[in-house]
Formats: sequence, C-alpha cells, structure tokens
Amino acid sequence: MFKKLDILDEKEPILREIAKDATFPLSKKEKNLIKQTVDHLTYSQIEEYEKKYDLRPGMGMAFPQLGISKRIIIIVHEYDDGKFDNYVVINPKIVSNSSEIIAAEAGEGCLSVNRDVDGHVPRYARVTVEGFDEDGNMIRVRAREELAIAFQHEIDHLNGILFFDKINKDKPFFKEGEIRLI
Ligand code: NI
Repeated sequence: MFKKLDILDEKEPILREIAKDATFPLSKKEKNLIKQTVDHLTYSQIEEYEKKYDLRPGMGMAFPQLGISKRIIIIVHEYDDGKFDNYVVINPKIVSNSSEIIAAEAGEGCLSVNRDVDGHVPRYARVTVEGFDEDGNMIRVRAREELAIAFQHEIDHLNGILFFDKINKDKPFFKEGEIRLI
C-alpha cells in the first residue's frame, strides 16, 4: 500500500547538518524508507497518482529531508516517457566531474522548499558518482545533464547545502553563452 512521505521543510535545522556515513547492513527501517521514497518519487511523476495522492512532483530525495541525518540519496529519473530508472546510493561521492558547467533553465526545485526560488544554479554537466548499493556493494554511476544536476542537488543535501545557496544573489540568471542552459 502506498504511503506518502513526511518531508521536512527547509526551516528544520537537520537540513543544515553534515550527514553521517550510513553503515551496513542497513536497518529494516532504513530499507523500508528507501522503498517508500522510490514509490513516492515515482508516483509524484505520474500524473494520475500525483493527483490522486496530492503529491508534489520531484525526482530526488536525501535522507536528511526525511529527518535522518545519514548519507543516503534516492533519485527516480524519467529517462523516457513513463520509464523510470531508480538510483539508490549510500555514502555517495563525486569522484570526477566535467569542466563544463550547466544550469537548469527553469531553475531547480526541492521537496523541502515550499516556495518558488528563481535563479540559475551552476552545476557540472557530467559527474561520476561512487558509493554503495543497499547491500553494501560498491557502485559507480556516470550521470549527465538533468541526472547530473539531480545527483549534485541530492549530495549537497548531505552537506547541509540547499540549491538556492548556490544562486548568485546579485546576478541570479546567467546570460546566453556564459554557461549552457538545459
Ligand atoms: Ni532537494
């Protein structure tokens, strides 16, 4: 049965903490929460369920947003119409990145930020992320474009950083040619 997540608002201090490494084996509670998050994010991106359960669409979540200060991120990426890839990465680290910088043209959103924040968030166009799967096996993910932005956004959450921290207050929007807007 589907159960909506309780997602903390940006005002909660836990969102500004440096999260601790998760340890293996993961607890049953942690595993259940991961599963619940995958379901929530998937449903939030399917119009029928988004409406039925009154969900805000989102593709990523970090455990601190759920009140647990541990280094676990979940991304549900719609790579094609109605087709989703799930990424659950424990103790993720960006081990390499492109020099090219991009930004989402429409800006970024966050399920913990319940207001519109305008501005471009500069991100690496491509990142390689290493970490562990739920069973403790080492994994490596190469991400580009929108998925790369999602990984950087979620990993920032583990370090107490919210997306708007990275928007230049004096000049929130890049001009054509300064960086690539996607
Ligand atoms: Ni977020």
